[in-house]
Amino acid sequence: MQIIKKIDELRTIINQWRKDGLTVGLVPTMGYLHEGHKSLIDRAVEENDRVVVSDFVNPTQFGPNEDFESYPRDINADAALCEAAGASLIFNPEADEMYDGALTFVDMNKITKVLCGKTRPIHFSGVCTVVSKLFNIVTPDRAYFGQKDAQQLCVIKKMVKDLNFGIEIVGCPIIREADGLAKSSRNTYLSSEERKAALCLSRSLNIGKDMINSGETSAAAVVGRIKEEIEKESLAKIDYVEMVDLNQLESLETIQKPLLCAMAVYIGKTRLIDNFIME
Ligand code: PAJ
Repeated sequence: MQIIKKIDELRTIINQWRKDGLTVGLVPTMGYLHEGHKSLIDRAVEENDRVVVSDFVNPTQFGPNEDFESYPRDINADAALCEAAGASLIFNPEADEMYDGALTFVDMNKITKVLCGKTRPIHFSGVCTVVSKLFNIVTPDRAYFGQKDAQQLCVIKKMVKDLNFGIEIVGCPIIREADGLAKSSRNTYLSSEERKAALCLSRSLNIGKDMINSGETSAAAVVGRIKEEIEKESLAKIDYVEMVDLNQLESLETIQKPLLCAMAVYIGKTRLIDNFIME
C-alpha cells in the first residue's frame, strides 16, 4: 500500500492510470478509519479499477474551539485497513501541501447555514474547499460519501452540480455498532459511561421513525418526542434535532417524504451526529 504525500506524485500515478484506460474512485476521509469508512472503500473497490483514499485531517473545516488538534490519527492502521480492503493508495498530504499560501475558498449559501451550519459556521466552506481540491487533484469518475453526514452529502451533491464537476457522487448507508451507535472516529473520545449515554441518539431516532411509520403527520410531534427521549439522559445536551426535506433542507411542518431527520447531541464534551432518511 503506497502512502503518497505529494500532489505532483499522485498526479503522475493518476495520469498513468488514465492512459491505461482505468476508472478511478475517490473516498475522502479524515483518517482513523473504521467500518463506516471501510463500507465506502468496499463499494468504491467494487465499482472502479483503482481507488484512492484520502486521509487528511482538514484544518479549514474546524472552528477555533473545535477538536482539530486532538482529532485521532493513526496512518499505519489506516494503511492496513485500506490495503485489506483493496484500495490502490492513500493520499496523506501535510496541511502545507494542501494550503500553502491559499487565498481561494469554496463557499455555499442556504443549505450550509442550517442544521450543523448554525453552530459550525465555517465548517462547510472548509469541506467544500478541501473536497473541490481533492476532486481537482484526483479527477475521479466517482466519489463516495456516507449518509452518516447527511448534510455534507447533500452539500457535496449541490456543489458538484453548481460547479459542473462531472463526478458521480455515491451516497452510502450509515454503519452502526451492534447496539445502534453510529460508527465515528469521535466515539473514541467517549468514556464508558458516555458510551452508554450515546445510545440515546439512535434510540430516539428509532422512536421517531416508528411514529412516522405508525401514521404521525406532525413534524413537531416527532421532533418533540425525540427531544424528550434525549433529555432523559443526563449526560446528553441537544445541539439540534430537526425534520427537514431531503433536498432543500427546509424545515417541515407536516411529515412529507423525502425527509431527513437529523440531530447533533453533545455527550459530555463530544459532539455526535446521527440521522434517518425516509425517501
Ligand atoms: P470523515 O468524518 O473521516 O468521514 C469520511 C467519510 O466516511 C464521510 O463521507 C462520512 O460520511 C463517512 N462515514 C463516517 N462514518 C460513517 C458511518 N458510520 N457509516 C457510513 N459512512 C460513514 O467526512 C469527513 O471525514 C470530512 O468532512 C471529509 C469529507 C473527508 C472532508 O474533509
